[in-house]
Amino acid sequence: METVEVKGLVKAFDGHLRARRGRSERVLALDGVDLAAEPGEYLVLLGPSGCGKTTLLRTIAGLEQPTEGEVLIGGHVVNGLPPRVRQIAMVFQSYALYPHKTVLDNIVFPLRAEGMERAEREKKAAWAAELLEITPLLRRKPRQLSGGERQRVALARALVRDPAVFLLDEPLSNLDAKMRATARDELKRFQERVGTTTIYVTHDQAEAMGLGDRIAVLEHGRVRQVGTPQEVYDDPADTFVATFIGSPPMNLVKRDDRLVGFRPEHLLPAENVTSERVTMPLRVERMEYLSGDRHVYGTVTGIGEETRVIARLPATVATPLAAGETHEFAVPADRFRFFDAAEGVRTAAVPIGGAS
Ligand SMILES: Nc1ncnc2c1ncn2[C@@H]1O[C@H](COP(=O)(O)OP(=O)(O)OP(=O)(O)O)[C@@H](O)[C@H]1O
Ligand SMILES: [Mg+2]
Repeated sequence: METVEVKGLVKAFDGHLRARRGRSERVLALDGVDLAAEPGEYLVLLGPSGCGKTTLLRTIAGLEQPTEGEVLIGGHVVNGLPPRVRQIAMVFQSYALYPHKTVLDNIVFPLRAEGMERAEREKKAAWAAELLEITPLLRRKPRQLSGGERQRVALARALVRDPAVFLLDEPLSNLDAKMRATARDELKRFQERVGTTTIYVTHDQAEAMGLGDRIAVLEHGRVRQVGTPQEVYDDPADTFVATFIGSPPMNLVKRDDRLVGFRPEHLLPAENVTSERVTMPLRVERMEYLSGDRHVYGTVTGIGEETRVIARLPATVATPLAAGETHEFAVPADRFRFFDAAEGVRTAAVPIGGAS
C-alpha cells in the first residue's frame, strides 16, 4: 500500500501530422494535474475519450516522461526511474495475453522475466488463480476462455508481481453489460481483500460510481473535481461534471447570469413533492419507458428561460401524462444547484420564485 501522487503534471505531445505541413501543433494531453491516491484507496479516473486518462496512467507507470511536474510513489519522486522499479502493475486498455502460452505461463511470465524460481512462481500463480477463481483454467490457452476469464487472467498476471500500486486502464471495456457488472463486483471485492492502492480508468460513469472510493473527473487534461461518488453527483463543481455524471444528465435552466441545475429524478409532478418546493409548468413532448422509470421529455417555463428538460419518474409515480399537455411539476427547494452562466462554476444559491 503506497500513496501515489502527481504534482503539476503536464504532458505535451507533438502533433506530427500537422508538423509536416510546417505547422507544429502541440497536444496538451495533461495540463497541470494535481492528484493523490491514498494508501489502499480505489481512485477512479473518469472522463470523455481523449481527456488524458491513459496518458496519466502511463506517466505514473513511467512509460511516458512528463513534460513538467512530478510523480511521487510512497512519498518519493520517481521521475526518471524506469517502470520496472516503480512496483507498479498495469493492466492495459487492450490487454494482451500471449495466445500460444497457457493461462499459467501467461501469469508467471513477468516472474520468470525477473528470475524467480519455478516453485515460488507456481505458488504465487496458484494463489492469484485461487483469488480470481480461475484455477480450473490454468492449463487452457487464451482462445479457450471467455472475455471475462481472459480479463481475470490479465489481472492475475498483474497481481503476482505483488505491486504497491495497480493501474487499470478500462480493463472491462471488452465485456458485455452483464459480465461487466459481475466483473466490476469481483474487482471491488478483490481490491478490498488485497488493499492495494488502485487507480482505475473508465469513461463509464456507472462503473466509476460503483467502484470508486473517490472519483477524479477529467476534461481536456485537467481535473475538474475529485470527490466521493456521492459528492460529485450531489455537489458537482461545475456544469461539465454536472452533465457528465448522471444519466440522463442534470437539467440546466438559464436564469439571468446563472444556470439553475436540477437532476431529472428531482423533477416530479407537483403533487408528488411534499417538501418545500419550487413549481413550474412543464409541457410534455414525449415519454420513454426505461427499466420501470418514465422519462418525460418536455419544456419548462417560469424559473428562467424556456428550456428543454428531462424528468425521471419512478414507477411509484402514477400521474397520467400525455404528450402535448402541460402539467405542474416541482423540484424540492434544496435540490437546486447554481452555476455561473459564463464560467460554468458553482455559485451560491439564489432565491427562485414560485416556492410553495
Ligand atoms: N503518442 C501520442 N502522440 C500524440 N498525441 C497523443 C499521443 N498519445 C495520446 N495523445 C493525445 O493525447 C490526448 C489524450 O490521450 P489519452 O490516450 O490519454 O486519452 P484517454 O482519456 O485515455 O482517451 P480514451 O478514453 O479514448 O482511451 C488525446 O488528444 C490524444 O490524441
Ligand atoms: Mg485511454
